Amino acid sequence: MSEVVSYELNENIGVISVNNPPVNALAQVVREGILNAINAAQNDASKAIVLVCEGRTFIAGADITEFGKPPKDPGLPEVLAAIENSSKPIVAAIHGTALGGGFEVSLACHYRCAIASAKVGLPEVKLGLLPGAGGTQRVPRLIGVKAALNMITRGDPIAAVKANEMGLLDKVLDCDDVRAGALSYAKKLVDTGASLKRVRDITIDPSSVEIGFFENARKQLAKRARGQIAQDRIVSCLEAAVELPIDKGLERERELFKELITSPESAAMRHIFFAERQAAKIKDLPKDTALRPIKQVAILGGGTMGGGIAMCFANIGIPVLLLEINDEALERGMGIIQKNYAITVQKGKLTEDQMKKRIGLISGTTSYDEISEVDLVIEAVFENLDLKKDVFGKLDATCKQGAILATNTSYQDVNAIAEATSRPGDVVGMHFFSPANVMKLLEVVRGRETANDVLATVMQIGKKIGKVCALSGVCYGFIGNRMLGGYGREAQMLLLDGCTPSQVDSVLEGFGMAMGPLAMGDLAGLDVGYKARQSRTDLPDDPKLYRMGTLLVEMGRHGQKTGSGFYQYDPETRKRMADPDIEALIKEEATKLGVEQRAVSDEEILARCFYPLINEGAKILEEGIAQRASDIDVVYIYGYAFPVAKGGPMHYADSVGLKNVYEKICEFRDRYGEDYWQPAPLIKQLAEEGKTFAEWDRERGVA
Ligand code: 3HC
Ligand code: NAI
Repeated sequence: MSEVVSYELNENIGVISVNNPPVNALAQVVREGILNAINAAQNDASKAIVLVCEGRTFIAGADITEFGKPPKDPGLPEVLAAIENSSKPIVAAIHGTALGGGFEVSLACHYRCAIASAKVGLPEVKLGLLPGAGGTQRVPRLIGVKAALNMITRGDPIAAVKANEMGLLDKVLDCDDVRAGALSYAKKLVDTGASLKRVRDITIDPSSVEIGFFENARKQLAKRARGQIAQDRIVSCLEAAVELPIDKGLERERELFKELITSPESAAMRHIFFAERQAAKIKDLPKDTALRPIKQVAILGGGTMGGGIAMCFANIGIPVLLLEINDEALERGMGIIQKNYAITVQKGKLTEDQMKKRIGLISGTTSYDEISEVDLVIEAVFENLDLKKDVFGKLDATCKQGAILATNTSYQDVNAIAEATSRPGDVVGMHFFSPANVMKLLEVVRGRETANDVLATVMQIGKKIGKVCALSGVCYGFIGNRMLGGYGREAQMLLLDGCTPSQVDSVLEGFGMAMGPLAMGDLAGLDVGYKARQSRTDLPDDPKLYRMGTLLVEMGRHGQKTGSGFYQYDPETRKRMADPDIEALIKEEATKLGVEQRAVSDEEILARCFYPLINEGAKILEEGIAQRASDIDVVYIYGYAFPVAKGGPMHYADSVGLKNVYEKICEFRDRYGEDYWQPAPLIKQLAEEGKTFAEWDRERGVA
């Protein structure tokens, strides 16, 4: 049929087989191959047709690399129409993941069977899209409008057994061999004279949707949209499914799909899809680097981070030893872990049994001797270099040869920590984000001497525990925290210039940040930054710098934990409220410091907060601390809740235009001085050459 689609007769069943590694995406050759095979099967001796895939999965969706390029025939709707109109029943045989356009292909088939380990889903929303090949019209016909809305706006895959219960599948096969199972299922269908069951023929009862349902759904979804428009368009498609005949509904879906595919939000989200996968690749690491086995892990320090990190490993069945300074600290740490699991059980995301198993995998100790045989140690003790060096000296003396010794430090020098051991090649940074069991980012920090197999193993184990890994070199704060400096600084400077805390935060939240920088400071504790600043000698001697943050701490307003900071907090609900006293105090301070207050535009707030971050990102790239601009985007999306619809700070800078960014930074430098604003040479260079960070990544062969 084609190089990627074959067709053969197996007795009276025609078998269409797709083989387009790695994930059988619906590239043009696949679409053409399927169409030709369906047409051929109409005129041969087959009584039914099975559509099955080779390799690790059923079709995992449209080929995302084709988006944004001129469309090539046949289009997916044409292929689906041929499937649906086939004169012989077509059975989709699902293994792996049938996602997006792949699942939509199966929805056009007359029957869907899957092996038990398979999953199905419509994840388009995660790419800023909606299912564009009938998913929004066929799914509500199968499972009802409400369940369809939930499934399509969330985009999460659904396990075969559940999908079968919901009505998305017709059968879960009782064997693991999808081809054999589907063949025997198809034969049975033929033998029993099964009909050509078409999802399109099912009618939706409009009274199944109460009045105001869609309006309500739009409101609810807008709350978590953070700049994404796809959810809203999905609601429109489901409205069409209820109100219009299917062909009109499909037309409406196509129209809205086309709108989304050209939207900057979807471009940003597709950028992140590929960036996330790129970030896992280390450019100078041989692909065949042998990995070290990780069967048992020790965590040092059972505080905020250590407990969460321990949970990450227990969650995938790896036994963990948690080492603390004394029994009391150990008990406290274990208590927090148990509480966290109990909350997950309460939310219905874990069963009691699973919780018990996971907690059973974590045991406590206060003795280094007990951790001597583990394969990986992750240190999460207090953030103090001398303490960390001492701890690594002890690890060197006790741990078996070949054990990986990782530190979760946020700011300390990983090379200095490695030097405290006789085996610096085994030392690496594993920088988790808080809460460690929830946040998806893991910055993997490569020390001067970190061995290749250590790095490869840590990247792989990071993926296994469900993290998105990004590589960083050694510098103060690594990629993410280093870039954050100017962001927090400018948020406070803007107050003196005439903004209220609510104004700064609401502009950044309007942009899509989960929380504005000042509210974030209140949440993290203003005393944390205050203490960190006291030990820094590199900050300019400027009374304006962090003026408000410092004053608030000295007034005992440390943020949410003391009930007030930049804002006041309702003691019951923790709701933040503007504080007129603080707004007056800001004005007073500005006068004292001779700053003339003025109206500041939203554009200026965005530029003042984000451009220092982007500028530092460019310096990080020049220094080789980050491998590629897209890695920085991954760090910000998964570690700092930067809105995915903006694609990360470097992609955002590309979309604004580096020339514009550069010129603004120069303007701010002229206005506020070189202490704070020095354009990175890379931004200047790319601005002059009219290039983007993405182009620079591609030119260097890292994207
Ligand atoms: N198109 C093009 N390339 C794809 C792809 C797709 N739909 N899905 C995955 N790939 C590529 C990845 O970029 C990666 O390439 P690389 O090796 O060069 O980095 C390779 O396939 C393997 O992917 P993963 O590393 O993600 O492999 P996993 O085994 O971890 O995961 C998966 C497999 C669950 C299928 C995951 O790849 C995935 O979720 N893919 C995207 C699925 C999706 O979003 N489908 C909807 C597409 S939009 C659509 O269908 C529109 C339709 O409604 C019209
Ligand atoms: P924490 O203060 O909550 O916990 C530290 C724990 O280490 C305490 O329970 C303490 O008893 C224990 N400890 C101290 N010395 C020890 C020793 N010698 N042996 C064993 N245990 C010892 O601190 P937190 O927040 O968990 O931070 C730990 C590390 O993680 C720090 O390096 C920090 O910079 C880093 N980190 C913190 C993040 C956060 O948001 N809290 C985020 C990312 C990294």
